[in-house]
Amino acid sequence: MSRHVGAGTGKVILLGEHAVVYGHRALAAGVSLGTRVALTTHGGPTTLGDSAIRDPRLERALAVALPAWGYRVDIETDLPVGCGMGSSAALAIALLRARADAEGRSADFDWLHREGFAIEAVFHGTPSGLDHAVAALGGAVLYRRDEAPQTVAMSPVHVVVLDSGTAGDTGAMVAGVRSRRPGNEALLQRLGQLVEERVSDLGDRPALGAAMDEAHAVLGELGVSTPALDELALLARQRGALGAKLSGAGGGGIVLALVEDPTPVLRGARRRGIRAFSCTLPASEAS
Ligand code: PMV
Repeated sequence: MSRHVGAGTGKVILLGEHAVVYGHRALAAGVSLGTRVALTTHGGPTTLGDSAIRDPRLERALAVALPAWGYRVDIETDLPVGCGMGSSAALAIALLRARADAEGRSADFDWLHREGFAIEAVFHGTPSGLDHAVAALGGAVLYRRDEAPQTVAMSPVHVVVLDSGTAGDTGAMVAGVRSRRPGNEALLQRLGQLVEERVSDLGDRPALGAAMDEAHAVLGELGVSTPALDELALLARQRGALGAKLSGAGGGGIVLALVEDPTPVLRGARRRGIRAFSCTLPASEAS
């Protein structure tokens, strides 16, 4: 009996979600939360052992990621699930790294990214690949579909993550945006432009905050925000955030607020019973 472990990093999208599905660039960053998988070899069919993730699609994801025979799979995570923080991608990368360790093969980025698509497809249908690129690389990542992701230098920023308390369904949100094309083309263009405008000077925090505010408004027009997400973004701005936007597919999930000092936003959130935490971006690779 042998034990093999792997880890994947969670992420937040700073700018460019949804537009990335249509070939625009997105900017995302690893967070210091992630998912760890342990594979223990045994003489029976591959089965799920202890799991912090409960999802009806999990069995199918395991069938795609692993051989049908030979492993007990234990999963641990500190990432909130279904929040837009890339929990399924972190799981995919953790599974692949553990499998590579068990098979004595190298888990290079190209292999992780290629295999990661098949696992992410179980959860999201047609993922852009952004989530599992960041889950594998950590750091700050510029990502365009069908191109090698680019790690970019970004000095650390403080953010507060505010949880709307309801999970968004990434597959459904992406399908909704697709069904409203081509009418929403200009909005997708603008989301892509915001990335291009900011990427040359990520150190300009007020400009990044303003771009996040605008991105939130555009995502709202695109039909993926909710009254709860709008309220969280407003709360963060009223409490001094430089900018705030939904992050991820929307329809639920999280708001990401760029802050100088997390305390006022955290206090405001706690007073209203909203789950919130602060962290520093970008965090490096989880494994
Ligand atoms: O909700 P998340 O964290 O899985 O982010 C989805 C990001 C989208 O751009 C909406 C979809 C994608 O595959 O890139």
